[in-house]
Amino acid sequence: MDTSMPKQLRRGTLSRYSCAVRTRNETTISQMLLRAALRCRTLQPPSRLRPCLRSTAFRAPRAPSSSNAFAASATRDAQLEEATKFVIQVGAVREGKTYSQDVAEGVVAALADPSSGVPLSALLPTLKQLAGAYEIGEDNGLDALAAAVEKEVNERAGKQLVHCSVKAGSASFDVSAYEGTSLYDVVRRGEDDGARALQSYLECACSGVMACSTCHVYVPEGLSRVGEPCEAELDMLDLAHEPRDNSRLGCQLVFTPDLDGLELEVPDGANNLMDHIPFEDRG
Ligand code: FES
Repeated sequence: MDTSMPKQLRRGTLSRYSCAVRTRNETTISQMLLRAALRCRTLQPPSRLRPCLRSTAFRAPRAPSSSNAFAASATRDAQLEEATKFVIQVGAVREGKTYSQDVAEGVVAALADPSSGVPLSALLPTLKQLAGAYEIGEDNGLDALAAAVEKEVNERAGKQLVHCSVKAGSASFDVSAYEGTSLYDVVRRGEDDGARALQSYLECACSGVMACSTCHVYVPEGLSRVGEPCEAELDMLDLAHEPRDNSRLGCQLVFTPDLDGLELEVPDGANNLMDHIPFEDRG
């Protein structure tokens, strides 16, 4: 873990962080931002996140009779709300990266906390800097921060960590994910050894929208626990590399407590249907 992190995220230094992010792994930015921006009080259980955004930590000293104080408070609320909407919008635009309201509010609360050193007036610009050109899939650290917040939210919500074993060729390793997340989430956002191992076998080229089949896995036992695939998944599995009766798309395999201990097997090849999509030549 990088322990050389500055104590505060200052407006002027954030751009340097963003540049550093591109050359360091997402875990690092996650840890840097979290340790710099998050304090225990910023990440509350989901039921307390909303009040957190309107807590006295973000309000000016009270002057009940002052209309200026009321206006300042309303401005802060509007800034927090606008920032939260932006995070949700980024998740909605980026395929396979949806950010829930709780996660978006957690990200905003983390950066808005006075200990982060980010003034409220710089909140939205800071988030835009972290999001990068998200419309074309770029990310300068927002996703890693959101993933860290999501993990914190899941833990505080008491969600169960589900463990699975994976066999890939001669290799075998364990992966774990919180209930409600998918195997794609492990590939996209996982940070532990198992997730890193899985990332080298499953490409997930279409970001989880059932258009590539590179997340194809076999479920040797306990297929019924995984649930029935939908028609679209079945169609994509027909085009996958050597499909079997126990084939599933990892992006559609959502972990539940009942799946704890599930075994998965990675096929010895993958068809990336994205390679066969004709793109218009704009040259
Ligand atoms: S990630 Fe492309 S089909 Fe699952």
